[in-house]
Amino acid sequence: MSIAIVGGTGPEGSGLALRWARAGETIIIGSRDAQRALKTARQLSASAGADKTISGTENRFACSDAEIVVLTVPFAAHAETLKHIKPSLRSGQILVDTTVPLAASVGGKPTRTLGVWQGSAAQQAAELVPEGVIVVAAFHNLAAELLQQEGAIDCDVIVCSDDKDAGKRVRELARKIPGVRALDGGKLENARVVEQITAVLIGLNIRYKGHSGLRITGLPETAYEN
Ligand SMILES: NC(=O)c1ccc[n+]([C@@H]2O[C@H](COP(=O)([O-])OP(=O)(O)OC[C@H]3O[C@@H](n4cnc5c(N)ncnc54)[C@H](OP(=O)(O)O)[C@@H]3O)[C@@H](O)[C@H]2O)c1
Repeated sequence: MSIAIVGGTGPEGSGLALRWARAGETIIIGSRDAQRALKTARQLSASAGADKTISGTENRFACSDAEIVVLTVPFAAHAETLKHIKPSLRSGQILVDTTVPLAASVGGKPTRTLGVWQGSAAQQAAELVPEGVIVVAAFHNLAAELLQQEGAIDCDVIVCSDDKDAGKRVRELARKIPGVRALDGGKLENARVVEQITAVLIGLNIRYKGHSGLRITGLPETAYEN
C-alpha cells in the first residue's frame, strides 16, 4: 500500500511520513514543486533509514499512484488543492483530511477557527472529491512537533468517516505511530468538533509552552483495538 501526502513538505505531512515510513509504509511526498518534494523525500529517507521507501513528486502525480491520499495543506489552500488533484483521484481511494480551518491560514489568530459552510474542512473535502473517493477526517489533534521527534506520542487520534471500513483502515494507520491510540469518532460530520479542538490545543501550547494532545478516558481497552 502506498500513501501519498499532499503538502508533505510541511511539518504535519512530513512528520506523518516519517512515522509511517519507519513503520514500513511506502510514502510518496507531494508538493506543488516536484523538486521540493524530492528534497523533502531525501531528507526524510535519511532520518527514517536508507532502506525505507519515500519518494517525492508533484501533488497530482503523487495521488495517482497511491491507495491512500493524506491532505496536509493550510485551510486557505484546501479547496484549491482538492480541485487540482481531483483528476488524479479515483473511486475506492481513501482521502484522509487533516485540515483544521484555522483563522491563521488567512492571516487571523491561530487560536480561532473559520466558519466552513459545509460544517468542517472534511465535509468540504467530501463535496470536492470525485464520486467513490472516501473521505476520512483524522490527525487534527496530533502536533507536528511531536511527530518529528523520536519516541512515543502521548495522544489519541479521533477518526471520523461515513465509511466504516475506511475509518478502520485509517485507525490502523494511526496505531502505527508509537504511543497513539485511535478511536472511532463516528460520522464525518463529527469532524466539525474534532477540528475545532485544535484551536484550543494551540491556545494551551501558547500559554503553557508545550505540545498538547488529547487522551480520552473511561473507555474499555477494546475501544482502541478496532
Ligand atoms: N502543524 C501541526 O502541528 C498540525 C497538527 C494537526 C493538523 N494540522 C493541519 O495539517 C495541515 C498542514 O499543516 P502544516 O503545519 O504542515 O502546514 P504548512 O506548513 O503551512 O503547509 C503544508 C504544505 O502545504 C503546501 N502549501 C502551502 N500553501 C499552499 C497553497 N497556497 N497551495 C497549495 N499548497 C500549499 C506547502 O507545500 P508545497 O509548497 O511544497 O506545495 C506546505 O509545505 C493544516 O491544515 C493544519 O491545520 C497541522
